[in-house]
Amino acid sequence: MKNDRRDKNKHFFHFVCYFMCNKGKQNGGEHMEVIKTKELVKQYKNITAVDKLLLNMKQGELFSLLGVNGAGKTTTIKMLTCLTKPTSGDAFVGGYSITKEPEQVKRLIGVSPQETAVAPNLSVEENLELICGIHGFSKEKTKKKIEELSEQFDLGTVLKRKAGKLSGGWQRRVSIAMSLISEPKILFLDEPTLGLDVIARHDLWEVIRSLKGKISIILTTHYMEEAEALSDRIGIMKEGRLLAVGTVDELKGKAGCDDFEATFVSIVKEGV
Ligand SMILES: Nc1ncnc2c1ncn2[C@@H]1O[C@H](COP(=O)(O)OP(=O)(O)OP(=O)(O)O)[C@@H](O)[C@H]1O
Ligand SMILES: [Mg+2]
Repeated sequence: MKNDRRDKNKHFFHFVCYFMCNKGKQNGGEHMEVIKTKELVKQYKNITAVDKLLLNMKQGELFSLLGVNGAGKTTTIKMLTCLTKPTSGDAFVGGYSITKEPEQVKRLIGVSPQETAVAPNLSVEENLELICGIHGFSKEKTKKKIEELSEQFDLGTVLKRKAGKLSGGWQRRVSIAMSLISEPKILFLDEPTLGLDVIARHDLWEVIRSLKGKISIILTTHYMEEAEALSDRIGIMKEGRLLAVGTVDELKGKAGCDDFEATFVSIVKEGV
């Protein structure tokens, strides 16, 4: 129980740190390739979580990273968002090196991590206010932002409730709303719809669709229909490497399947 609380506080601390660093001039929008990795490696003792990853993502693109449990998706996102350092290699996010210019990278990004990052003892409204405060928003701007996000994420009924007492799906919604406060150029969504009911998932797809083209989005998911519905391109990871990259149709063509789930299974199991 105590550890659980400590974990939640730790996640929240990381989250706040992001936003502390996520102030200032937004830069990097002029780069056509918003993410470019160079032989990115993350080694945990004898586990190679990410193995010389080569990944390019274009500006304004919605790129989905798919892969079975343990494929290296979250580790990739953690490196690209400067939460963890690569063992070797580098990546450029908005033109900035994650190893040499992490502060500049953090100014461009918003993150909704796999473990949601709400402060459990604060109300939803207080969570949103806190992040607005970190960004130096005025009272008026804070109020406007909260109204806007409440409407976008349908948070009206939960604004006064303690975030930690909400269901997992609602916490996820709040977490994503918080990641958008800074109006990031690049948004990382690690399993954004995990645990959401069907209606909430479809609502969130609409929110994600409304952001498409305006900002670059990298998301991970285990829901094939989600990747199919939202992505411009998809990368399929296995054992820390990208097995295949392409549009839904390109990947289907590659695997010779009409169905995307069958395509995924074929690529992961047979490497085609
Ligand atoms: N902090 C860590 N210490 C040791 N090993 C780790 C750590 N984080 C991740 N790993 C290992 O790295 C590999 C990749 O994990 P990662 O969390 O990136 O996978 P994932 O693709 O996000 O999986 P999932 O779909 O289950 O979220 C796994 O073998 C995992 O056990
Ligand atoms: Mg993961």
